[in-house]
Amino acid sequence: MDILVIGSGGREHALVANLSHNADVNRLFALPGNAGMAGCATLVPIGTKDLDRIVQFAKQEKVDFVVVGPDDPLVLGLVDLLESEGIPCFGPDKRSAILEGSKVFSKDLMKRYGIPSAEYEVFDKVEEALAYAKTCALPSVVKADGLALGKGVVIAHTREALQTAIRAMMVDKVFGSSGESIVVEQFLTGFEVSVLTFTDGVSLVPLPSSMDHKRAFDGDQGPNTGGMGVIAPNPYYTPELQELCMQQIFLPTMAAMNKEGRTFKGCLYFGLMLTPDGPKVIEYNARFGDPELQAVLPLLESDLLSILLAVSQQRLKDVEVKFSNQASCCVVLASGGYPTCYETGKRITVGTFEEGLVCLHAGTRFDGTTLVTNGGRVMNLVATAQTLKEAVEKAYRSVDSVSFDGMQYRKDIGKVALEA
Ligand code: AMP
Ligand code: GLY
Repeated sequence: MDILVIGSGGREHALVANLSHNADVNRLFALPGNAGMAGCATLVPIGTKDLDRIVQFAKQEKVDFVVVGPDDPLVLGLVDLLESEGIPCFGPDKRSAILEGSKVFSKDLMKRYGIPSAEYEVFDKVEEALAYAKTCALPSVVKADGLALGKGVVIAHTREALQTAIRAMMVDKVFGSSGESIVVEQFLTGFEVSVLTFTDGVSLVPLPSSMDHKRAFDGDQGPNTGGMGVIAPNPYYTPELQELCMQQIFLPTMAAMNKEGRTFKGCLYFGLMLTPDGPKVIEYNARFGDPELQAVLPLLESDLLSILLAVSQQRLKDVEVKFSNQASCCVVLASGGYPTCYETGKRITVGTFEEGLVCLHAGTRFDGTTLVTNGGRVMNLVATAQTLKEAVEKAYRSVDSVSFDGMQYRKDIGKVALEA
């Protein structure tokens, strides 16, 4: 088969690396890809939001299957366009990607179908939001309705901070049209868990749980990022909680989407908070998490391509989806200043790694023959081992093998999990 993978991050490098070892894969394209993927796929210099050119390319190359990594093309409707040309895809269509594309949609869906989540109000008029901010409980969480590169969430501990966040989104439009409507919701406490699931609308299979580390700095300090590191499985998420989540959250969400005429096929990502009142949904994503997938995929023992194809053909229940009971750790190496402002084009030197350590590329490119940085999150070091402690130690032992000007990374990935 000829396969096209859309995206340029560590998540897509993980997908491409896996697929490149599959005997059924003939030609493999990464669009636009990164320097790390150049070794195992043909890079296609087209942007992930340039839908017309993507479709044109897929048709021209007679691609057999497209795997969509990031949220933007899903929410914009890339899968709809490709499927209307007869090209099958892994990923939800536009009508179901709205589960990630609109927080107002997802909050209303959860409310209508009794899926546990934080209490909330929706506003599309700034005066009404500001009036509500005078009396609501603190802390409160303000969320822009639409996509905002993972930055559209503000946890406000004071009324001033709450008002500032509302004005920034609704008046200054820092997230553009994504902030035309906002959600103000109850602040939840507990341990966070990410659960990626495969679903084709008929059945749903959870992958091993994981714990992302979203804040930029150690001790969960600093601004929210796309994710600075992940461990899997998440020790706070017990088999009993998994069963509870299946019955109260995962299957009801799949059924709700079917009922709405928005059958979801792809990876449905549940961002959960394990609160004292039970697990609640913080967010849905319509795609694999990044860097969650980098830590979870090495635990998959079954054939990834067979699963992706089965999801797109709605026969997930017929394929084997098996995982090892190992643990894994992914440490993100980021550009100095990420996620706020950072420079790119810094020369990267890469030494040798111990056996089994996987170095995935994210924001990298070749400048001539020199490997340079090309984004906020630059590389991911992924280690798998019998225990979480060994996996964490193995990932950190390799950090010194990579260097670039300004490189920053968290030193405490896995610390909270190891205290479980
Ligand atoms: P999101 O983009 O919705 O995943 O939010 C980013 C991060 O903000 C989450 O990973 C949580 O750490 C935090 N967060 C979002 N919503 C809430 C909430 N209702 N209560 C507490 N923390 C939240
Ligand atoms: N790591 C969080 C996400 O992919 O949304």
